[in-house]
Order: sequence, then C-alpha cells, then structure tokens
Amino acid sequence: LAIAGRRRDLAGLDVVVSAGGTREPIDPVRFIGNRSSGKQGVAVALAAADRGADVVLVAAHVDDGVLAEACAHPRIAVRRAGTAAELAEAVTDAAAAADVVVMAAAVADYRVSHVAERKLAKESAGGPGITLELVENADILAGLVASRRAGQTVVGFAAETPGEDETLLDRGRRKAARKGVDLLAVNEVGWTSGFEADENALVVLARSGEVVAEPRGSKREVADALWDAVLGIRVR
Ligand code: CTP
Ligand code: CA
Repeated sequence: LAIAGRRRDLAGLDVVVSAGGTREPIDPVRFIGNRSSGKQGVAVALAAADRGADVVLVAAHVDDGVLAEACAHPRIAVRRAGTAAELAEAVTDAAAAADVVVMAAAVADYRVSHVAERKLAKESAGGPGITLELVENADILAGLVASRRAGQTVVGFAAETPGEDETLLDRGRRKAARKGVDLLAVNEVGWTSGFEADENALVVLARSGEVVAEPRGSKREVADALWDAVLGIRVR
C-alpha cells in the first residue's frame, strides 16, 4: 500500500492544471462569473506536485487561502488569469511543454461583446430592462486537443446538473467523445452541491465512454484517484 505523500510516480512529468473560474467583464466594476472555488483544481495540482511532477497551475479567481499551499510548493509555478482569453493564453503557452494538461477551470462560454468603458448607469439605459449581448469564447480544451503533441494526455472536467431527459453518464459520454479528450472527469453539481464543498465525487470517463474510476472523498483523495487514472491510460 502506498503511503500518502511518499509516492513519486509522477516524477519527471510536466503538468499543467487550470483551476477556478473565469470572469468576463461587463464594465469596470461588474462581471459575469461562476461558482467554481478552484479547490478541486488546486487539489489536482498539489497531488501531482507531491507525487513528483513539475506543475504549472493557472488560477482564475481562486481565493488566496485556497491557493496558499500551492504558492508555497517548490514544484508548483502559479500563474493567474482573469478572463477566458487570459486563461487560454496562459494554458496554451504552458501546454507546449507539458506531458499532461488538466482543464479543471470553469471557463466562461461567453463574454460580453462590448465591454463598457465606464460603469453602466440605469439613467442611461432609459427603460425597464437592458440586454447584454454575449459572444462565444474560444474552446481552450478543443484547441489543446487539436494541437496535442505526441504522448500528451489531455484531461477535461465537466460539471453537470442532472436532467430528466439524459443521465449524467450519458451527457458525460457525449461530451468526452465530442471533446476528444483522453479523460473526462464528470462532476455532479447543483444549487447546493459540488462547489465550495471540501468533498467531491467524480465519474472519470475514457474517450470511449468507459468508466475508468469513480472516486469519492476529499478533493485531494479524488485528485489522487484522477492521477492514478491518468497513469493508467498513459501506460496502456
Ligand atoms: N472548456 C474550455 N474552454 C471553454 C469552455 C470549456 O477549455 N471555452 C473546458 C473546461 O475547462 C472543461 C471542459 O472544457 O474542462 C468542459 O467544459 P464544459 O463547460 O462542461 O463543456 P462545454 O463544451 O462548454 O459544454 P456546455 O455547453 O455543457 O457548457
Ligand atoms: Ca461550458
């Protein structure tokens, strides 16, 4: 049995992990964001570094407290990104030399097409409501998959709310195939579960749709199980 913290089975690997959630500005004081705390992504980075990997952690709006242990880790370089476009640049840059890329960050699908130079005021809206025009952001993961180097492993995350029409697993399987990732970690979320929590449960899917792991526990335990799954497909 491996003793926690003593495994060095990722030594020699260069790893990029994105964590947190991007924010898309509306005006100088407002943004469109999401509820990702970054805890799961940071746990993925810490697990890799503790197991010997050299890690670039691209953090989007992760609280300093959540990020502290990673900032202090000798094998983790932390880079910060605010918007989806900034995250794309930082991740793409770091991925050029990476053996494994894990996109745990919640990336905004859309940005505001015209960011206001000055704070929007109700007075100038001149009506009972306003409409924000949104434009789609580039899919970073799709770009990574398209430009993947030989031997590089690309891992995505999918936070899904269970629906009536399709099971979580079916949605995950479709997404894994559509994205072309090597692994997709599917995470059930809802109004009251999945975000700020310290515990998590994932279903890890291979591109084929096969369930390769179903870890449940602390975000760190789940992260270690994800790395076991990555090693599992890399040696296959
Ligand atoms: N992702 C990304 N760039 C985007 C959007 C998402 O790299 N512009 C990544 C996320 O970091 C995650 C994976 O893609 O690893 C899946 O994100 P998800 O939002 O579940 O997928 P989407 O293709 O955006 O589909 P959906 O319509 O369900 O949001
Ligand atoms: Ca999305």
